[in-house]
Amino acid sequence: MSAKIISGKDIARQIREELKAEVAEMKKDHGVTPGLVTILVGENPASVSYVTAKQKTAHDLGFHSIQDTQPENISEEDLLTIIEQYNRDESIHGILVQLPLPGHIDEKKVLNAIDPDKDVDGFHPVNVGRMVIGERCFLPCTPHGILEMLIRSGVETSGAEVVVVGRSNIVGKPIANLMLQKRAGGNATVTICHTRTKDVAFHTRRADILVVAAGRPKVITADMVKDGVVVIDVGVNRIGKTPEGKAILCGDVDFEGVKEKAAAITPVPGGVGPMTITMLMKNTVQAAKQFAGLA
Ligand SMILES: NC(=O)c1ccc[n+]([C@@H]2O[C@H](COP(=O)([O-])OP(=O)(O)OC[C@H]3O[C@@H](n4cnc5c(N)ncnc54)[C@H](OP(=O)(O)O)[C@@H]3O)[C@@H](O)[C@H]2O)c1
Repeated sequence: MSAKIISGKDIARQIREELKAEVAEMKKDHGVTPGLVTILVGENPASVSYVTAKQKTAHDLGFHSIQDTQPENISEEDLLTIIEQYNRDESIHGILVQLPLPGHIDEKKVLNAIDPDKDVDGFHPVNVGRMVIGERCFLPCTPHGILEMLIRSGVETSGAEVVVVGRSNIVGKPIANLMLQKRAGGNATVTICHTRTKDVAFHTRRADILVVAAGRPKVITADMVKDGVVVIDVGVNRIGKTPEGKAILCGDVDFEGVKEKAAAITPVPGGVGPMTITMLMKNTVQAAKQFAGLA
């Protein structure tokens, strides 16, 4: 058996088309244009490529989008002042600060300074708290994208044994929390594994749905999964370069081996990655609607 490939690329494209139509309607009927600012500190090449992709997508969808690049040596105080200005700016509905920030800046302080109503990354403690108790909030983009992929691919999560490998604040903890909630893409029985888990394979072999966010190339192998599992591979690992200098990527799952046992699996690249940016756009549209009293 070879698994069905869950294409994040295709699902993301579909969601972006929906958003584009929604944005055009908001502009035409209500004079509202979603506004997104991406704040980049320094010139870290990976961060530059992430914000460029976010800006391009925002532009394609018809957003009012601003790329605010600040020097590596900007003081924490100045960065906080800039965030405060965007908090007050009524043309901006979503503020994204690209992480990581340079060592002299306290990331927590910066993220906490963003108005929770503009926190389209969903990292502010107010949004995290609302998420945990199931209130309306901005969901963090990667877990939000995983939920959408599962729902739109028709994967039954209700009653499923879900095993999440990884307990980070941006992927592992929130996806585990969302999948146990009473909601679409939820109602699962969830287990979380991490580096102190005694026997990771014991748990992964029980999984109906396996979400892997370990940040370790091909750490999940075919002998660690059962037949018919649905696998969501969040990992993005750079394992080399092509002769042209392009990064060679692989996931946290040994795709070639696991796909022979799985019912469905996400590829890397082209799986979770394209969904993350798209959910940032979805959150920004939501923020603009809330600001304008349309949602
Ligand atoms: N596609 C996307 O849009 C997207 C978005 C975010 C992240 N990612 C990728 O997803 C991966 C994870 O990201 P992250 O930020 O969640 O990483 P992270 O903060 O490094 O967390 C990794 C987690 O995995 C656990 N872990 C590591 N090796 C393990 C093993 N062998 N067995 C069991 N647990 C293990 C760690 O356990 P401990 O807590 O015990 O250390 C930790 O909880 C990375 O490759 C990242 O690039 C992709």
